[in-house]
Amino acid sequence: MWNKTRATKLLRVKYPIIQGPFGGGFSSVQLVSTVSNLGGMGSFGLNAYTPEEILEVDNEIKQSTNKTYALNLWVPLKDDPADNYEKKDFEALRKLFKPYFDKMQIPLPEIPNPKTQDFEMQVESILKTKPPVASFIYGIPSKEIIAELKKRGITSMATATTLEEAVMIEEAKIDLVISSGSEAGGHRASFIKSAEESLTCTLLLIHQVTDTINLPVIAAGGISNGKDIADVLKQGAAAVQIGTAFLATNESNASAIHKSKLLSNKSIKTDLTKVYTGRLARAISNDLSQDFQSLGNENIAPYPIQSAFMSSLRSASIEQNKLDYVGFWSGQPSTVLRHKSAKKLLNSLIHEASKIYENKSW
Ligand SMILES: Cc1cc2nc3c(=O)[nH]c(=O)nc-3n(C[C@H](O)[C@H](O)[C@H](O)COP(=O)(O)O)c2cc1C
Repeated sequence: MWNKTRATKLLRVKYPIIQGPFGGGFSSVQLVSTVSNLGGMGSFGLNAYTPEEILEVDNEIKQSTNKTYALNLWVPLKDDPADNYEKKDFEALRKLFKPYFDKMQIPLPEIPNPKTQDFEMQVESILKTKPPVASFIYGIPSKEIIAELKKRGITSMATATTLEEAVMIEEAKIDLVISSGSEAGGHRASFIKSAEESLTCTLLLIHQVTDTINLPVIAAGGISNGKDIADVLKQGAAAVQIGTAFLATNESNASAIHKSKLLSNKSIKTDLTKVYTGRLARAISNDLSQDFQSLGNENIAPYPIQSAFMSSLRSASIEQNKLDYVGFWSGQPSTVLRHKSAKKLLNSLIHEASKIYENKSW
C-alpha cells in the first residue's frame, strides 16, 4: 500500500499528504480540518499570532477535527540583520523605492518599527494546547523545547533546504524532516547558509537527504498531482507537503484575485525575490519582482522592516487595481492547478497516486 509509510505511522494519518502551513494570514481552520478529516494532515501557520491567539486557533481546530493536524512557527534567526538596521540604510531604501510610490501617488513611509511575536511565548502556548504535531521553519528550536514537546507527546517536524540543514535537524532529535526544494512557494526557510546559496530542486534534495539521514523525510516544492507524489515516494520520501495547490482552493484564506491567478490557464511564471518582505520568497512574477531581478537586493531592508515598508504600496496597488506591486505567493507547480475545492484536490491526489501504484505505471 503506497499510502502506508513511516510518516503516516508517526503522524497517525491515513495518507502521506500534508497541507503545508501558511504564514501571512493565509491559513484557515476550514482548510486544516478539511484536509485532516479526509485522512491527510492540515497545518496552520502561526508566525504572526500572539500566544493568546494561538490558544484560540488551536481550540477552533480541535472543535472541527479530532484527527492529526500541525501548528507551525518560525524560529528566530541567530544574528538577525534586522537588529542592526540603521537610519542611513533606510534613506537608501526610500530612494530606491521612490519611483514606485510616486507611480501609485502615495507618500513614502517613515522608518517602520514592526512588532514581531515572542517565539518562546508562542511555544508556551503550543506546549499548553498540545497539538498532535508542531512544525518549524527557519531553524531548529532549542534542546529544551524539543524535550518539552516530546514529554507532551507532540510530534515535531522541521524544515531543511539543504542536506546540511537536514543532518542538523536529525542530530537535534526532531521526529521528521521537511525537505523543501527550490520550487516551493513562499519563503525559502534556509538557516545555515543564505537562501540564495541553498537552492536545490525538490527531486535532487529528496534524493540527497533520504540517502544520508534516517529520519522520515517529507518532500515539499512543486508537488501538485499524483505522479509527483509517486515520484518523490519512489526517491525515498515518506510523505509530501503541498502548499500552492491548497492555497488556490476556496478553503484557504488567500484573496479571490490571488486564487484566480494561481488557477489561471497560463502556466505560472514565478520569481524568487526579497522585494516584498526582505527574505527570499517565491511569488508570481510581475513588474516589481522583475525590476529587482536586475536591480538586486543590496538596498532591500531585512525582514520584517521591508514587509512593513511595502505595506502601503501593496494596499494602494490593490485599491487602484494595478496589481504590479503585490506579491502573490506561488511555487512552481508541475501542472496547471485546477481544483477549487480542497476536498476535490485531496481526493484527486489520492486517486491519481493510487492508480499509478495499481498499474505500476512509473
Ligand atoms: C503563501 C505561503 C506561505 C507559507 N508560509 C509558511 C510558513 O509560515 N511556515 C512554513 O513552514 N511553511 C510555509 N510555507 C511553505 C508551505 O507550507 C509548503 O511547504 C510549500 O508551499 C510547498 O511548496 P509548493 O508551494 O510548491 O507546494 C508557505 C508557502 C506559501 C505558498
